Amino acid sequence: MEELLAEMEERRKRVLAGGGPERIQKQHEAGKMTARERIDYLLDKGSFVELQPFAEHLETPLMQGLEAPADGVVTGYGKIGGRTVFVFSQDFTVLGGSLGKTHGRKIAHLMDLAVRVGAPIIGLNDSAGARIQEGVDSLSGYGEVFYRNAVYSGVVPQISAILGPCAGGAVYSPALTDFVLMSKGTSYMFITGPEVIKSVTREEVSFEELGGSAVHSQKSGVAHLEREGDAGVLEAIRKLLTYLPQNAREKPPLRPNKDPKERKTPELLGLVHPDPRRPYNMHQLIRTIVDEGEFLELQPEFARNIITGFAHLGGQSVGIVANNPRFMAGALDINASDKAARFIRTCDCFNIPILTLVDVTGFLPGVAQEHQGIIRHGAKMLYAYAEATVPKITLIVRKSYGGAYLAMNSRDMGADVVLAWPTGAVAVMGAEGAANIIYRKEIQASADPAATRAAKIAEYKKAFDNPYVAAGRGYIDDVIDPAETRRLLILHLEMLASKQEERPYKKHGNMPL
Ligand code: HXC
Repeated sequence: MEELLAEMEERRKRVLAGGGPERIQKQHEAGKMTARERIDYLLDKGSFVELQPFAEHLETPLMQGLEAPADGVVTGYGKIGGRTVFVFSQDFTVLGGSLGKTHGRKIAHLMDLAVRVGAPIIGLNDSAGARIQEGVDSLSGYGEVFYRNAVYSGVVPQISAILGPCAGGAVYSPALTDFVLMSKGTSYMFITGPEVIKSVTREEVSFEELGGSAVHSQKSGVAHLEREGDAGVLEAIRKLLTYLPQNAREKPPLRPNKDPKERKTPELLGLVHPDPRRPYNMHQLIRTIVDEGEFLELQPEFARNIITGFAHLGGQSVGIVANNPRFMAGALDINASDKAARFIRTCDCFNIPILTLVDVTGFLPGVAQEHQGIIRHGAKMLYAYAEATVPKITLIVRKSYGGAYLAMNSRDMGADVVLAWPTGAVAVMGAEGAANIIYRKEIQASADPAATRAAKIAEYKKAFDNPYVAAGRGYIDDVIDPAETRRLLILHLEMLASKQEERPYKKHGNMPL
């Protein structure tokens, strides 16, 4: 037995050594942790249990004589905040973390297990892509993972950290997951690299400029969060999980805290100016309402005209969607519609109630927007809200006009509770535009068109640019004092906690894409 144990230990030692001290040093010099250091940093101390450490690489003529401990990916389970999670961590020190058949199969097995158990899957990506020596088998390994990413979407949360290269078709595994987090300066994602681009289009571009974390956080919208180094990303994953349930059958955990549920929010009275053209800080509004001022914003640098993220209200996890009047006057454009629609669906599949804060003039006008398909993209947002069966609360902070009024979770699109501040205004359009259209002839015919226009605008404002017409028709449930916002939102959320909503049978809906 001693001999057998010694052999087992010897084999395990070789596995734990990964690609060896030189490559590990290179990894550290690049500012990155090793695959195993990342797992230790991510999970509750000492909780990791490894699976399949002795997995062997596929035998192909080109793989002869090559060593691939654990086949370049460490897989297993452990705890985060006391809850079970499944993790795979690609080992760049082993053949560049390239994905061979066994590597892919290990990840696929882990995903199967995670779904049987009902626990989140976290992927730590750091890989040179398909293992060239294994040819089509390595592509098959990717296929096994992509297939599960899609089939298990909405079953358990799937989180992808990009902590090194992620290139070629390999990007589609993270892209199919719920959340993508990238480390600043050490990670990149692209379909075709700088060399190929140069040979095809003659464009010259660096790795960072092509697919670094800044690009995917600001321009492409691929990344949900960008953080400093491995540590920053791994800490963000721990935080993100506090808002999520273990699986689609569960609710997110309650997070009791010291912030009183009845806390008044009088500071909001001075925040929002009744003049709809005056911008204010929507982030400040959110932080004032939520528990302990804590808001985890997702995609903060992308489509900044809409804000999406998680917070707690009275200990309950909520997803917040808010117009941001500081950017494009909060108008909805293509990117904002995509960002919001995706977030709404993320909340809905994981039973996270949605709070919508409205201050919007409409969809962004413009030839470019129309030609790029604002109709198709805006439709995603309407679809996502209507489809969502989680509790849905809307607070109309200020203006809410036209199609955007409907798109921002209005009563008729399925909101459970609609509140408005006295500054709220629901109308087909702003008073200036409306008066110009419906009183055009009268204005033109008058002796003093400017004065008549001003009088008509004032008349329209009085009649429609307020929350009371909509409240009078039942489109708004109550007009509230801003100082009561937090208290009332928590009460409504608690009332809605047992909400059940059945939908007609279908295979699945056909969401506009
Ligand atoms: C096998 C690979 C490999 C690969 C790198 N290595 N890429 N082994 N398959 N795809 C090995 C190297 O030989 C080296 O081994 C070690 O990994 C580290 O690589 P380096 O080049 O020394 O590292 P670095 O300088 O940091 O450069 C990293 C890199 C580069 C930029 C990722 O390795 C690279 O460009 N690799 C090729 C990437 C690629 O084209 N992959 C296929 C993409 S297509 P030693 O023994 O020297 O340490 C794809 C399709 C997916 O992925 C399809 C899904 C459907």
